[in-house]
Amino acid sequence: MSIKVRPAAMDDGEDESKSPPTSPTMGEVIARRYSRSELMRGVLAVTAMDVVVGGMLPLAAKAGSGGQAPPATPSFHFEELASGSDERHHVAAGYDADVLMRWGDAVIADAPAFDPGNPSADAQARQFGYNNDFIGFIPLDGRSDHGLLVVNHEYTNDELMYAGLGDNRKRRDAINEMPEPLVRASMMAHGGSVLEVKRIAGKWDVVKGSRFARRITAETPMRISGPAAGHQRLKTSEDAAGTRVRGMLNNCAGGVTPWGTWLSCEENINYYFWGKEAAKASSEAAALERYGIPEEWYPWGRFDRRFDLAREPNEANRFGWVVEIDPKDPASTPVKRTALGRFKHEGAGNIVNGDGRFVVYMGDDQKFEHVYRFVTAAKVDAVNPAANKDLLDTGTLWVARFDADGRGEWLPLVAGHPKLGAFKDQGEILIHARLAATALCATRMDRPEDIEVNPRTGKVYVNLTNNKDRTASGEKGVNATNPRAGNAYGHIIEITPDGGDYAAPGFAWDFLVKCGDPTIASVGATFNPATSKDGWFGMPDNSAIDALGRLWVATDGNAPDTTGRGDGLYAMETEGPLRGASKLFFRCPAGAEMCGPWFTPDGETLFVSVQHPGESEDPDKPGTFNNPATRWPDFKDGTPPRPSVVAITRKGGGKIGA
Ligand code: FEO
Ligand code: CA
Ligand code: CA
Ligand code: CA
Repeated sequence: MSIKVRPAAMDDGEDESKSPPTSPTMGEVIARRYSRSELMRGVLAVTAMDVVVGGMLPLAAKAGSGGQAPPATPSFHFEELASGSDERHHVAAGYDADVLMRWGDAVIADAPAFDPGNPSADAQARQFGYNNDFIGFIPLDGRSDHGLLVVNHEYTNDELMYAGLGDNRKRRDAINEMPEPLVRASMMAHGGSVLEVKRIAGKWDVVKGSRFARRITAETPMRISGPAAGHQRLKTSEDAAGTRVRGMLNNCAGGVTPWGTWLSCEENINYYFWGKEAAKASSEAAALERYGIPEEWYPWGRFDRRFDLAREPNEANRFGWVVEIDPKDPASTPVKRTALGRFKHEGAGNIVNGDGRFVVYMGDDQKFEHVYRFVTAAKVDAVNPAANKDLLDTGTLWVARFDADGRGEWLPLVAGHPKLGAFKDQGEILIHARLAATALCATRMDRPEDIEVNPRTGKVYVNLTNNKDRTASGEKGVNATNPRAGNAYGHIIEITPDGGDYAAPGFAWDFLVKCGDPTIASVGATFNPATSKDGWFGMPDNSAIDALGRLWVATDGNAPDTTGRGDGLYAMETEGPLRGASKLFFRCPAGAEMCGPWFTPDGETLFVSVQHPGESEDPDKPGTFNNPATRWPDFKDGTPPRPSVVAITRKGGGKIGA
């Protein structure tokens, strides 16, 4: 979802924040804090902040000149790609980047061929959905050349998918006038897909007629479990018990558990609901407002009462969860795990803690929202995967407070907490997790996206994509962890859990990098000076750690008119003197966002999602069905661009970037 186009459409969190200011804690006094690693490297010398704290520089110089610097040995080995933007995708020399699966390709064996001139819900329910986002690879028989790909279909760009929806700049009107058959097709393009994939003679292919093949849509029956299941606020006319729901919406990033399930995360659910008047009159008005519901973007509420708050006031509470899916059993019922809280979930990076408990890190992608962590009560059963079936139903949800001294604390969202007295029960705390986080004075962040754990180093990386509404002072003012006013390009922070214990209440934090063009002093970017003119980026979004313990970062929102480059995938050094050095590996076609990076366990294949190719606000190419910014990947007249999964391998074999 590119920053430029989406506010009109479906931006994840770009819209005005609904989060009230929390009173600053001791540690949250406004402090333009510099990272220890930046001081050690003397990187400050190239930032705009020199002016503000020039007096600190001699200290940095002193620290830098004291000891012998270790040699700067890069951990990535590939020829960097040139930055830029055009109608095609590009990968570093020596690699193949092959389109594996496109929107409209058959998932279920009897699916009809893709026919863009004749869209139908029935066909779409069996074909690959739109806007592939998260990708997880689940090996079969422990193999890296045969497994299941689980893929989220986040949302639809109806104006690119269907003919006759008019000019992008007026697309809200056009989309609101969509006839029911198109709306129904669009609903089927949401959700997710399970594909069986195999690498034969070096090339990946989807196994046709696989017994694992599955489409999950906005209609797939799901179960609601955990502490909020059966809550008054989850009951509707269709589900008097508050334990069953149809469909999952806006599934952005996600995760894979060690027991082989797929965690798929519902993000911008507000766009699907109608009923502004009903929301205003509701006794839940404050909570609806905080979640931005209803946005009234997609016209689903015209045809399905579930999406109209006037008719189903509780339906929206049944979305915004982490959904657990067993991809090995296509008949299994996906489960919304309420213990992990309800917000605009980005991803579900996870790790098994030293004591055996399972820890999931989660961002809430909206301006001024928070970073969360869930810790299970019980241990993972490493021997018997089935024993972990309901592990995610019991545990503690925590929200992060980052202090100015480089420390931080996880605050538990549990009933009985002295600051959560206004919440009637645990169900209410989880359904209104954002409100509970505010009551605990959690830190308001610059749009938390993917959070990934590096099991090799024990560090946790948090991508904060941007926040142009951040101000120098006042209620939206900068804080230590979000130090740039008008933060246009985002930053990445690194969390080090106390004692290597991911469940510990305390942690240390530091900046990995502040993003943007490092040659423009006022931007205040802090890429390692070893970064080339092609290697810096803005708007970090999804990320992955590869088999060698290296960080890769995907971007959302770079554009020729903001950064002079399109979105792509970057290799990012995190250790040693090159820490903060970044290198461009893959570039998306025009208008597309980079999502879903995921490596096979052997590190020899990298799967990426190219999302919404062809989006644009260029008046000459307004990003519509008739006039997209690119017709990637088919490049056929009359065929619209198609979001696709791409498999990247090294020519002649070998680990990616090694
Ligand atoms: Fe769907 Fe926050 O990216
Ligand atoms: Ca994204
Ligand atoms: Ca990720
Ligand atoms: Ca994003």
